[in-house]
Amino acid sequence: STTPITLRLPYGSDMHVHLRQGDLMEMVTPKIVQGGISTVFVMPNLQPPITSVQQALAYQEKLETLAPEVTFLMSLYLCPELTPDEIRLAAQAGIVGVKSYPRGVTTNSEAGIESYTTYYPVFAAMQEVGMVLNLHGEVPSDRDHDICVLNAEAKFLTHLQAIHQAFPDLWIVLEHATTREAVDMVKSLGPTVGCTITVHHLELVVDDWAGFHHHFCKPVAKFPHDRAALREVIREGHPRFFLGSDSAPHPRHAKENAQTCAGVFTTPLVMPYLATILDSFGALDRLRGFACDFGRQFYGLPPHPIDLPLDYPSIQLARRPAIQDPTDSVNNATYVVPFWAGHTLEWRLSL
Ligand code: NCD
Ligand code: DOR
Ligand code: ZN
Ligand code: ZN
Repeated sequence: STTPITLRLPYGSDMHVHLRQGDLMEMVTPKIVQGGISTVFVMPNLQPPITSVQQALAYQEKLETLAPEVTFLMSLYLCPELTPDEIRLAAQAGIVGVKSYPRGVTTNSEAGIESYTTYYPVFAAMQEVGMVLNLHGEVPSDRDHDICVLNAEAKFLTHLQAIHQAFPDLWIVLEHATTREAVDMVKSLGPTVGCTITVHHLELVVDDWAGFHHHFCKPVAKFPHDRAALREVIREGHPRFFLGSDSAPHPRHAKENAQTCAGVFTTPLVMPYLATILDSFGALDRLRGFACDFGRQFYGLPPHPIDLPLDYPSIQLARRPAIQDPTDSVNNATYVVPFWAGHTLEWRLSL
């Protein structure tokens, strides 16, 4: 085979992570670097959600203490209290984005939004100051209108289209795309619209989460043809599609319950997972663009040099299969089960 056995890459940039609070935050945050990542875009769905500049900066300070070598890009949670004035203050404070969750669709989204047009004054301010709108692209389920988790993303796409049309200069990211329809829609829109793809949605389909709580997340993984579309857009090297793992740890007891919670935990091994998965569908040569370069480009962060100087901070991936530990511990009492626990990864990281 012509597959290389080692790869040297810049550290990855993961443009969608959940780092939590308390003990869970203390366990997860130091694992960012272990996963081969040095820049993360941090989601605001804490309890209570991060809705002010002050809360975001206090959270950022805690995260920086736990992992001083990581760059944390912070976000606010879209809600009625968020005013155009707060947006301007946020931009001045270096806060990068605003995440919108439709009400009730996922973890801690009870405070989410109902209608997008009411937020147009906020979007106008964001467009003006160059803040990014991060969309959780699902409409709420509605049995009377045949809407459920399988078509919630496809039905959302008209909202994306309308917001982009109303604010063509607003930077928008459709987060964690899971469908062929989403890929096609993002491709059809202008250069201000990007899209994150998770590790797990490159691997899972419906059969893998139906009955398997550790693979349950929102949006749910869809059909084989949807997974094929996500893989294809990466194989093409499309620069507006980039890594956002949506790594979302929940304690094992909360996942392994009659009613589970949504989220797949990938932070400790993001780059080994991606190398293994992209290699499996013939896209290893796209790993650097997808995981290291395209997200930075979209967010206007300093680019990595095309050829890495010898002393440039970098990671080394090696094609040496390793079985991963089944659990990560929080205070020796609570456990979080990572994606593919006990599974053999074809690629491993030596930092
Ligand atoms: C976390 C959880 O899932 O338990 N909560 C959250 O994300 N809002 C961690 C925590 O509560 O500290
Ligand atoms: O699976 C998910 N988990 N999807 C989300 O949108 C939220 C996340 C979480 O916070 O647990
Ligand atoms: Zn989301
Ligand atoms: Zn998320």
